[in-house]
Amino acid sequence: MQARSNDTASASGIDPARLPRHVAIVMDGNGRWARARHLPRTVGHQRGRRSVRATIRAAMRLDVPLLTLFAFSSENWKRPTAEIDALMNLFINALEKELDELDDNGVRLTFIGDRSRLDARVCELMAKAEQRTADNRRLQLQIAVSYGGQWDILQAARQLAERHAESPLTLSDPDSLRHEFERGLSTAGQPPVDLFIRTGGERRLSNFLLWQTAYAELYFTDVLWPLFDEGEFEAAVRWFAGRNRRFGRVATQGDDS
Ligand code: IPE
Ligand code: IPE
Ligand code: MG
Repeated sequence: MQARSNDTASASGIDPARLPRHVAIVMDGNGRWARARHLPRTVGHQRGRRSVRATIRAAMRLDVPLLTLFAFSSENWKRPTAEIDALMNLFINALEKELDELDDNGVRLTFIGDRSRLDARVCELMAKAEQRTADNRRLQLQIAVSYGGQWDILQAARQLAERHAESPLTLSDPDSLRHEFERGLSTAGQPPVDLFIRTGGERRLSNFLLWQTAYAELYFTDVLWPLFDEGEFEAAVRWFAGRNRRFGRVATQGDDS
């Protein structure tokens, strides 16, 4: 991974004001990439690591401040044990190997997901990485592990109920209720997802950031995750920069879409 270059968003021709503040990616297609080459699925997952590195590089180059990667879903626990073990080992390995470089590059690492289902060793590594990189500001790299959008909403609802066990909530003001609720989400304090990317050809959310993608622009590509690279990420960001986001309003004068 290279250090920050002078090739900023404006140098790449993208108006900095039109950059996404939060990009979330469903990294899908590792198994199909491997199968097409008569290789075990695990090799596809290993190969996907390259694409993760390329994507981080591109996010830094384009000045995207927050990148959330879906590494393992709450539904992925239904996969064969051998594949789960391989994915967890790969995750541990990648974290151990990449941490120094990420830290040197000013990357702040955070993790979201249900940690109660993860191995103590994995949790320990994640906590260590979070602590060590807590003050980094170049890019926030957020990895979703054992994550499900519905799990996130439910645990936020539980927290809300617990916080208000003795002081009933005023439900009449939707804005303050939303604010109170969002405090419990694993993404509390973060901007909502602006750009949602899914590789691998499927057009579904697969229980990723459900609440947070309420107004995301959705970008689906047939490219399998192991073949996703810096150019593909930049293409998605360029596409996003050209969107006319109305958020329910009418288009402003001069907008053509
Ligand atoms: C995505 O690739 C990686 C994870 C879900 C962990 P897949 O393993 O889902 O690959 P396909 O969809 O079978 O090709
Ligand atoms: C979504 O991919 C989860 C991750 C990429 C981590 P899946 O391959 O698990 O999704 P489905 O099963 O096709 O919906
Ligand atoms: Mg898949």
